[in-house]
Amino acid sequence: MTNLPVIAIDGPAASGKGTLGRRIAQALGFAHLDTGRLYRAVGLGVLKRGEDPADPAAAIRGVQALDLSLLEDPALKSDKTGGAASKVAAIQEVRDALLDFQRNFAAHPPGGKGAVLDGRDIGTVICPDASVKLYVTATAEIRARRRFLELQAQGSARTEEQVLIDIKTRDARDMGRTVAPLRQAADAHLLDTTHLDIEAAVARALEIVRAGLQP
Ligand code: C5P
Repeated sequence: MTNLPVIAIDGPAASGKGTLGRRIAQALGFAHLDTGRLYRAVGLGVLKRGEDPADPAAAIRGVQALDLSLLEDPALKSDKTGGAASKVAAIQEVRDALLDFQRNFAAHPPGGKGAVLDGRDIGTVICPDASVKLYVTATAEIRARRRFLELQAQGSARTEEQVLIDIKTRDARDMGRTVAPLRQAADAHLLDTTHLDIEAAVARALEIVRAGLQP
């Protein structure tokens, strides 16, 4: 193990943790890993084979045959892929298979300065000794609104109500699963972005992170 700083960011779907992770990494010169992309690649692979992501055997086959080129697939970001990701992510063998890659990234980040990882179980399971932990959240309604506006700008016809239902379904699955459920680590700083725009959220997150990295 190295002793480079690690920032762990967890939070529910569409909480903005990915954007925060990227911006914090940029500001500090650290490497960033959006761990949701790994689960999304597994889920997308299962969908592409025409299998059911909720079937544990299909999910395990999906992680064993993980095709890293799927990380660049335009469908990676879709809500359908997000739903498939949250199904395969509930399977212990899938999580086990992705564990070493994530821990290795944290211990030996590209660039050698430090790492920012965002996901659902970074502060609780992947990097329990992270230098600073953030738990980013906002009300489901606000998260749905932000996601809806993003989708609308991309020309999607999905309604805000449909997006809200998806978000609530995914929250329930991610928080209710027995394996590595989404929860705030006891030593994580809570960042509620319900009343913050992205710039205010980034500023507040950087304040917390910089204070936490002080020797
Ligand atoms: O963050 P994102 O929406 O890309 O994550 C997709 C899904 O992957 C989540 O709903 C969650 O079920 C799963 N995930 C996870 N643990 C992580 C990151 C993502 O279970 N560290």
